[in-house]
This record gives sequence, structure tokens and C-alpha cells, in this order.
Amino acid sequence: MVRVLITGGHGQLGRALVRTAPAHTEVIALGAAECDVTDPFTVRAVLARVEPTLVIHCAAWTDVDGCERHPERAWRVNALGTQHIAAACAAAEAALVALSTNYVFDGEQDEPYHEFARPHPLSVYGASKLAAEEVVRALCPRHYIVRTAMLYDAHGRNFVTTVLRLAREQPRLRMVADQYGSPTFVDDLAKAIWQLVAQPAYGTYHLVNAGRASWYEWAVAVLETLGLGVPVEPIPASQFRRAARPPRNGVLTSLAAPALGIVLPDWRDALTRCLAPLRSA
Ligand SMILES: NC(=O)c1ccc[n+]([C@@H]2O[C@H](COP(=O)([O-])OP(=O)(O)OC[C@H]3O[C@@H](n4cnc5c(N)ncnc54)[C@H](OP(=O)(O)O)[C@@H]3O)[C@@H](O)[C@H]2O)c1
Repeated sequence: MVRVLITGGHGQLGRALVRTAPAHTEVIALGAAECDVTDPFTVRAVLARVEPTLVIHCAAWTDVDGCERHPERAWRVNALGTQHIAAACAAAEAALVALSTNYVFDGEQDEPYHEFARPHPLSVYGASKLAAEEVVRALCPRHYIVRTAMLYDAHGRNFVTTVLRLAREQPRLRMVADQYGSPTFVDDLAKAIWQLVAQPAYGTYHLVNAGRASWYEWAVAVLETLGLGVPVEPIPASQFRRAARPPRNGVLTSLAAPALGIVLPDWRDALTRCLAPLRSA
């Protein structure tokens, strides 16, 4: 029996990891109230009590614009919190999966970013997550750094549920059409993470659904999948003011995951599966 501790266990990826966990895996998913990663004493005490063989570190402050407005909180949760987790994993001889993001890249290149592309974050969120990657590499030898992007589920707070809410509230939507990324269904990511940790192939991995979409294309696909006839107007990013600057090209691709036989489905296929329960509801 493998015992796995999940931090940020009540977030959207944490919940997906719980519902997709393989047999013979005992999962302990803790939220911020039970394991505040900014407190090193709590982190060490939790690892000593749970005795995990693997920690999947999902806890983060994921509000990208909030991070830009309150950088100290972003650094404390995302970078320092990960430092505490990495140090405790090394001391307890537990392996570590640390979640990271496409926001570590500046988006200036035209091709998708693979694992060996040079990071250059434009935002506080991206910089704090890149610093988290660096402490994991420095402190915890048995680590998997998993960069992903644009996570969504049919429930909770994410872009897909925001589009559905706006479609109920507004006669037409306006969506940015000149920023691209890799929309990724949390269930597909969770299954890929379970596949990854079955192998002691430590290193950095990009795990996203295949293909690329702008926010505009993604919103149109959500509405079309559910047969909602709300018009969507494509707009440039310059007309949508945000505190943080997302990468123009945030599309990820992987050299490392396919080498292990891990290939995620296309994002449109994933979106159809994710929204299927809402179609029949
Ligand atoms: N969402 C995306 O599009 C996306 C894209 C790329 C990478 N990622 C990365 O993937 C991981 C999982 O993301 P997600 O979408 O599942 O995020 P999420 O739904 O926002 O979940 C993150 C969880 O972390 C918890 N948390 C916040 N501060 C904490 C603290 N000090 N101690 C312990 N827990 C704390 C939050 O709890 P509360 O809600 O109680 O504060 C929340 O449940 C994160 O590392 C994120 O950076 C996400």
C-alpha cells in the first residue's frame, strides 16, 4: 500500500486526484486548515504523523491577478510554502510532486514550450512558482515538477464555470482572442500524475491536454458543447485590463512525458467529456 499526502487537497486538482486514485493507494487530502504550508512546524508535524511515501503538493495561491496585487502573500504561499514542503519531504525521505505553471514562460516564442525551454516569468504568480521549482530542485532529490495550464472542471471556480455563469447573466460575451494556452481537464491531469508517479523517473514534466486554444476559442467551444447560442465577440488582450500579464503564447508541449508512455487527449475531447454530465442534466 502506497500512502500519498495531498496538500491543497480541497482545490480542484486535489479533488480530482482523490477521485482518480489507483487501487492500493491510501490518499490523505488535507486543506489549508489542516496543513497550512506557510507554517514549517505544521508541515513537519503533518509529515511525521502521516508518514507518506509521496507528497503531491497542490496547495498554492492560484489567483493570478490577486498575486500581482499582493505579492508578499504570493511569495509566502507559493515559494516559501513549497520550500517548507520540499525540506520536510527530503527529511522524511518522501518523494514529491510539485505543481507548476505555464506562467513561468514569457510567451514570446511562437512554438509551444517544452520542458527545457528557458523560463522568464512576466507575473508575480509565475515568478513565485518558478522560485518554488528552484527550491524543490535544490532541496528534494526525489521530485517530479509538473507544469500544467488552464485547469478546469465542471464545478468550482475556473474559466469554464465562469463562461457558463456569464452566459446566464449577459446577452453577449467578449473574450481575448490573441492569448493562447492549453486548456486541461483536471481529471486527465490527475490520471497522468498517477501514471507518472508509478515510475521513479524524477524530473520536470509538462502535462496538459493536447492542442492549443485562445480564451475566445475555449469559450466558444464551451458554449457550443452545451448548445448555448450566446454570441462571443473576439477582442485583443489590450482591451481586457488585468493586474497580471499572462503569456501571449502559454501553450505547453512535452518531450519527457511521451517517453514514459504518458500522452493526454486533445483539449476538445477532454472538454466534451467534462461537460457530458451537464448536457444530460
Ligand atoms: N488552476 C490553474 O489553471 C492552474 C494552472 C497551472 C498550474 N496550476 C497549479 O496547480 C496546482 C493546483 O491548482 P488548482 O487549480 O487545484 O488550485 P485551487 O483550486 O486554487 O486549489 C489550491 C488549494 O490550495 C489551498 N491553499 C491556499 N493557500 C494555502 C496554504 N497556505 N496552505 C495550504 N493550502 C493552501 C487552497 O485552499 P483555500 O481555497 O482554502 O484557500 C486551495 O484549496 C497549484 O499549484 C497551481 O499553481 C493551476
